[in-house]
Amino acid sequence: MPLEYQHLISNNKRWAALKKSAEPDYFKRLSLAQQPHFLYIGCSDSRMPLDTFTSTEPGELFVHRNIANQVSITDINFLSVLDYAVNVLKVKHIIVCGHYNCGGVAAAYKGQATGLVGNWISPIRDLAKENAKELDSIEDEHLRLNRLSELNVIRQVENLYKTHVVQRALQKCHSDFQIHAWVLDLATGHILELPLPEGLDHRNEKI
Ligand code: CO
Repeated sequence: MPLEYQHLISNNKRWAALKKSAEPDYFKRLSLAQQPHFLYIGCSDSRMPLDTFTSTEPGELFVHRNIANQVSITDINFLSVLDYAVNVLKVKHIIVCGHYNCGGVAAAYKGQATGLVGNWISPIRDLAKENAKELDSIEDEHLRLNRLSELNVIRQVENLYKTHVVQRALQKCHSDFQIHAWVLDLATGHILELPLPEGLDHRNEKI
């Protein structure tokens, strides 16, 4: 049964009361400042609230979400979030997290999206064409789309590396600054860490 609108308000009252009873100063503390260590770039899909899947609390994830978790280097909204997260909040980790069963990825692959959404996810269509050989070798369509979800995350990490903000952060010897490629398997609830292509994985390098 779909959640009724009024339940959102009553749920909120109950949740706030529970938090306050567990820690009387919780909201006072929360309202003062945020010090998140993580920037989460994810899909707008309603099944992708990463805080739930990682048991993180308000104040711990700085978030940018859009359809099919795109890192679009012409998107002023995204670039502002990235700049603020890295240069002001000084997050230690950027996580690009896609997911299996992504409607945006499937629509791009099948050429089903039109209008603005079609335009937004067209880079995934190009990505599928670039990787046609590998994708065509996967017989099962579900698995093929899941692989495209993985390739999409890796492509977005590559796009991140192209940004001035990330380039500068790496040059500044942020040895503890890391970028991660994740895909969430909604069928199990598990996060899979994807290996980054050679040259991008700076985690073990001294910069
Ligand atoms: Co999605």
